[in-house]
Amino acid sequence: MLELKSVSINYGAVKAVHSASLVINRGELVALLGANGAGKTSIINSISGAIPISAGEIVFLNERINGLSPDRIASRGIIQVPEGRRIFPFLTVGENLMVGAYLQKDKKTTQKNLERVTNLFPILKEKFKQKGSELSGGQQQMLAFGRALMANPMVLMMDEPSLGLSPLLTQELGKQIREINREGMTILLVEQNARMGLTLSTKGYVLVNGQVAISGSSAELLNDDLVKEAYLGM
Ligand SMILES: Nc1ncnc2c1ncn2[C@@H]1O[C@H](COP(=O)(O)OP(=O)(O)OP(=O)(O)O)[C@@H](O)[C@H]1O
Ligand SMILES: [Mg+2]
Repeated sequence: MLELKSVSINYGAVKAVHSASLVINRGELVALLGANGAGKTSIINSISGAIPISAGEIVFLNERINGLSPDRIASRGIIQVPEGRRIFPFLTVGENLMVGAYLQKDKKTTQKNLERVTNLFPILKEKFKQKGSELSGGQQQMLAFGRALMANPMVLMMDEPSLGLSPLLTQELGKQIREINREGMTILLVEQNARMGLTLSTKGYVLVNGQVAISGSSAELLNDDLVKEAYLGM
């Protein structure tokens, strides 16, 4: 469904990603793992068109999408939950969710999505009229997740959703991610929490210094000695 072919990303003289290749099939949950500065966010941002690539190709549904504007890419159905949440603090929870639906022209679909999101995150229904700033960190993460779902994505990209969450909330978020994937959503999940990433995913890629160092089924990676030692603390 979505494929990165030998993608390189530079920031001026800084080579952030070198010749990375990834394949994400329809309905798959793929984990992208790696330490600080490995290039995970750069890859997500290049897929969403926020930053340009310097070599390679990004193909979505058999069409090249690198070079398209972020708006065009979003309207094709690739939606990102940004790192650090970035909800609108002065808008209400409901308004924040509706921002996610801005590309959705059909009111019935929007209503259906709203029901789905508030069923998945009952707290958002409870706090529907409160300001985004009044939510806890975990609730803001749910709001950012819910807002992305309001766009009715074909591919959902999540950048370190567990960052800053308590173990309990991380577990809850994991369940929600799994549920969305079970309903058929294709997900690219960036995580520093390798255990969480590999537990949820079917397949994983480990980035080291901007290169795909290890890849394989998540079960394989969970048993890989290098992955265990470097990322799972075993
Ligand atoms: N705007 C920028 N200008 C220059 N260098 C950048 C920029 N953004 C990222 N980099 C560099 O690119 C490399 C990859 O960064 P990136 O943010 O993609 O890593 P990451 O895997 O998402 O890290 P983290 O886990 O800290 O979020 C790093 O060396 C980083 O310093
Ligand atoms: Mg990052």
